[in-house]
Amino acid sequence: MLITLAKHKRKTAEQVLQHPSGDKRFKILDTHMKRHQFKADALIEILHRAQELFGYLDNDLLLYIAYSLKLPASRVYGVATFYHFFTLKPKGAHTCVVCLGTACYVKGADKLIAAIQDVARIKPGETTPDNQVSLLTARCIGACGIAPAAVYDGTVTPRQTPESAAEKVKGWLSHGPERAAAN
Ligand code: FES
Repeated sequence: MLITLAKHKRKTAEQVLQHPSGDKRFKILDTHMKRHQFKADALIEILHRAQELFGYLDNDLLLYIAYSLKLPASRVYGVATFYHFFTLKPKGAHTCVVCLGTACYVKGADKLIAAIQDVARIKPGETTPDNQVSLLTARCIGACGIAPAAVYDGTVTPRQTPESAAEKVKGWLSHGPERAAAN
C-alpha cells in the first residue's frame, strides 16, 4: 500500500511539471533539469539547453525554468540577460526556428535555412530590417519523427520543404506593409 501511494505521489508530481501546451520541448527540458536534480547551480547549463531547444528564451520559458528550479524569476531573468550568448525574445513580429538537430539536418534542414535566407535576406540570429521576421535555429526540438521540422511563431510544423518554408516567410513579409498601412 505504501509503495502504491509513493508511486501515485511521484506520478502526480510529474504530471504537475508537464507543460500544459503539450509541446515536447518542455518534456525534453524537464528531463534535462531532472538530470541536474533541479539544482539552482545548474541554471546556466539549463538555460543553454532551453535555448538549444526553443531557439531563444522568452518570458514564459524563463518563468517555467524559475518555477521548476524554485528560483525567483528575477534571478533567472538576471542571468539570462547578463550573458550575451542568451537570446531573449527576438525582435521580429514573427519568429521562425529551424531545427538543425541530426534527424532534421539529414532530411535537409540546411536547405530550409538557405530558402528562408533567400526570401528574407537574413542569416540565423538576425531579424529583417522591417522587424517582421526573426530567423533562429535549434538543436532537436523533440519532433524527429516529423523531420525536418520548423517552429513558426511557436507552432511546431512537420516535414518542411524549402518551398513551404519560403512560402511561410514570404507570407509574413508580404503582410508587414499591409499591417503597417492599416495602423
Ligand atoms: S533533430 Fe529536429 S526534431 Fe529532433
